[in-house]
Amino acid sequence: MTTRPIIIDTDPGIDDAVALAIALYSEQLDVRLITTVAGNVSLEKVTKNALRLLEFFGKDVPVALGAARPLIKAPIDASDIHGSTGMDGFDFKEPTQDRVLKEHAVNAMYRVIMASEQPTTLVPIGPLTNIALLLTMYPDVKEKIDEIVLMGGSTTRGNMGVMSEFNIAADPEAAKIVFQSNLPVVMVGLDVGWKALVYPEDSEQLKGMNQTGGMIYQLFQKYRGGSMKTGLKMYDSCAIAYLLKPEMFQVVETFVDVELNGSMTAGCTVVDLRGYLKQPSNAKVCVDIDPDMFKQWFMESLGKCN
Ligand code: RIB
Ligand code: CA
Repeated sequence: MTTRPIIIDTDPGIDDAVALAIALYSEQLDVRLITTVAGNVSLEKVTKNALRLLEFFGKDVPVALGAARPLIKAPIDASDIHGSTGMDGFDFKEPTQDRVLKEHAVNAMYRVIMASEQPTTLVPIGPLTNIALLLTMYPDVKEKIDEIVLMGGSTTRGNMGVMSEFNIAADPEAAKIVFQSNLPVVMVGLDVGWKALVYPEDSEQLKGMNQTGGMIYQLFQKYRGGSMKTGLKMYDSCAIAYLLKPEMFQVVETFVDVELNGSMTAGCTVVDLRGYLKQPSNAKVCVDIDPDMFKQWFMESLGKCN
């Protein structure tokens, strides 16, 4: 089976942790590099969390540290959702630093992508700062990028601002650079993340499934992205789901831009579903998901973990 080379840019993050588990244990994906970006919590904390997860999974994927802050705006975080460590709930053992590259994430991404025989898919599941820097510093990298499948944005309302989703709101200027890159971008936003829910009975099933399920069960006790009763939102896993089972999504090709200046709407993804702006489409947008198909895929995927 040919595997698909990917780089995951992440800010773990409890929902990132689940997405990383599914990706790392998938036989269809070849995770060439994990890059970290400040987002849910600080760069130091998200990097420590990425290393903790790789140690727990026993996966030797290199890790490169990226941006410690957004391009322009002041940093925000989501420690209220993920806890002060960014991954509260489970007592991970101290990870080795052997996986950490000395290169900056942007340089590591450029090296890995250009050295790859196959085009690489970028899977950002945090703020887009590193991706924007990569495309700006090394424009020739675009010829070796297959697709950018990002968790972020919303065609309707936000989860960080009235109209803005966290990953875009954290670095709207970076997001604008990515949507204007002329690369194949897939936006996997709140429209589907809000329906990708884990309920108490699912969580109980995870608890006894395997070591990874038991760890995730513990993290879910602290995760505030939704609630146990109404369902925990698996935002970042939706980006991985798009790579592995795209048929669960309803997708439209349309024009997307990012509002930078609105006093109340900065960070909002403007998704022009009805063509008012008369711009050519620049993204595939996931506008709906089959929640049953997601849940079956989600549980089966985690069943493949150790
Ligand atoms: O809005 C959800 C996104 O913000 C997810 O990637 C979550 O991990 C946070 O980074
Ligand atoms: Ca994330």
